[in-house]
Amino acid sequence: MRLACVVLAAGLGKRMKSPVPKVLHTLSGRPMLQYVLDAVARLKPERTVVVVGTFHKEIADAVEASGISFAHQREPRGTGDALMKARDALSGFRGTILVLNGDTPLITPDTLRGFLRRSQKNGDALSVLSFSAENPEAYGRIVRDDSGVALQIVEEKDATAEQKRIAEVNGGIYAISSEIMDLLSKISLNKAKGEYYLTDLFSIARQEKVKTGVYCSCPEDEMMGINTRAEMLRADRILQTRIVGRLVGRGVTFINPASVYIHSGVMIGSDTVIYPNVYLEGETKIGRGCVLYPNVRIAGSAIGDGSIIKDSSVIERSTVKQHAQIGPFAHLRPASVIGSHAKIGNFVEIKKSVVGAGTKASHLSYIGDAVIGKDVNIGAGTITCNYDGKQKHKTEIHDGVFIGSDTQLVAPVKVGRGAYVAAGSTVTKDVPPLSLAISRTMQKNIKDWAKKRMAQAERRQPGMKGQRGKGSRKGDD
Ligand code: UD1
Ligand code: CA
Repeated sequence: MRLACVVLAAGLGKRMKSPVPKVLHTLSGRPMLQYVLDAVARLKPERTVVVVGTFHKEIADAVEASGISFAHQREPRGTGDALMKARDALSGFRGTILVLNGDTPLITPDTLRGFLRRSQKNGDALSVLSFSAENPEAYGRIVRDDSGVALQIVEEKDATAEQKRIAEVNGGIYAISSEIMDLLSKISLNKAKGEYYLTDLFSIARQEKVKTGVYCSCPEDEMMGINTRAEMLRADRILQTRIVGRLVGRGVTFINPASVYIHSGVMIGSDTVIYPNVYLEGETKIGRGCVLYPNVRIAGSAIGDGSIIKDSSVIERSTVKQHAQIGPFAHLRPASVIGSHAKIGNFVEIKKSVVGAGTKASHLSYIGDAVIGKDVNIGAGTITCNYDGKQKHKTEIHDGVFIGSDTQLVAPVKVGRGAYVAAGSTVTKDVPPLSLAISRTMQKNIKDWAKKRMAQAERRQPGMKGQRGKGSRKGDD
C-alpha cells in the first residue's frame, strides 16, 4: 500500500489556557506532537505533512522533523480546511492518506497498522477510526442507522439530545484515498463555529456513493484527544504507566513507581533499583545494577553500571562512569565527567570538570572548570576559585594529589602529580610534583596565655577562679 500521512497541528488549543501551542505541550518530556510523529514514522510513509499555523516556527524547531514537510494554515478555520492546506504537499501522490490529529499522543503504530489493514481489506475510499468513550462529550459522535451502518459524524455542539447519548466517537484518525481528496472542497462552513469540519467529509462521501467504513476497536486510552490540562494530566499518567511497565519488563526494580517521573527517552539497565521520588529527564541513560536513592533528579546524563546515587542529588548533562558514588546532596552541573570508582559526597558541587577514576571529594566542596586526575583526595571545604569577576579560569590537579581541608585554589593554577597541599592553604601559584604547598600563617602557641587571663580575672573578682572567663564569654561555647 502506498501511504502518506498528514498530521493536523494548526489549532490554537485555546482550551489549554496557555500561550504555548497545544501540540508543543510536553508529556513525559516530549511535545505531544512528537509522539504522533514517532508513531507515524514507524509506518514508513512516503511523505509526512504536518499542517501548522501561527506557531509554525516554534513547532518546526521543537520537533524532530527529518523527512517531514510543513503546510501552512494561516488561520485556524477547522480540521477540514487544515487538510485542504496539505494538498499542495501531497500533489502527485496516489494512494492512501492517513490523517491524524496532532493532539492524540497515545496512539500506537500497531493500532494504526491494524486500522489501515481493515480499511484496505474492505476496499474503503474513506475510513474512520472510532472508539467507545466513557465520557463522549469532547468528541464527535458516530451516528449509525438501525442496521449499524455509519451515516455521519456529529460534533457535540451540533448533536441532538439523542445523538449526545451515543458512546461511539470519532478518534480523529482517517484513511482517505487520494482519489476522493477533491471532495474536501464540498465541505461547507459550519456557521455556529466558523469552521470547516473534516468530519463532514464522511456524509459527503456517502452521498457521493464512495465506499466508507468506521472501525471501532481500540482501547480508549490510546485514542484520547487532548484539549485541556486535565486531559493532558491523564494522558501523562497513562504514558508513565507505559514507561515504567517497559522498564520493569527489562529488569528494573521500582520501590514506589507511582512517585517517580521518567521521560520517554530514558533508558535503564537491568537490576537497577529506583527509590521513590526519582526524576529522570531527557535522554538519560542509567546502567545496570545502579541504585538511585530517593529524591534524585538526573537530566540528560549517563550513569555507568554499578554506580550509586544517594538521596537528594541533582545531575545535569553530565557523565558518571561505573561504580562511582554520588551524594547525598551532591550537585553535578553540566559538562561534568566523574571517573569510575570516584566518590562525590555530601554538599559537593561540581561544574564543567573532569574528575579522575578513584578520586574522592567527600564533603562540602566546590569544583568548577577543573581537571582532576586519578586517586586524588580533595579535603572537606576545598574551593576552586575559578572566577575573577570577569573570566573563568582552569584548575588542574594531577594524579595522586592530596588537597588538605579548607583549601582555596585560585585559578588558573596547577597542582603537580603526587603533591600535597596543607589544610587551610590559599594556593595562588603552581605546585610542582611531589612537593608540599603550605600558605597559611605559621601557628604560634602563646604559653600560659589562658592561665594568665584567669589570674587577672581572679584579681578583679575574687572567688571566680576556675570559672573560665565567665561573664566575658557568656554563651560562646
Ligand atoms: C476533533 C473532531 C472530533 C473528534 C476529535 C478527536 C472535527 C471537527 N472534530 O475534535 O470529531 O472526535 O477531534 O480527538 O474535526 N486543527 C488544525 N486546524 C484547525 C483546527 C484544528 O490544524 O483549524 C488541528 C488541531 O491542532 C488538533 C486537531 O486539528 O491537533 C484537532 O482539532 P481540535 O480542535 O482539537 O478538534 P476536536 O474539537 O478535539
Ligand atoms: Ca482535540
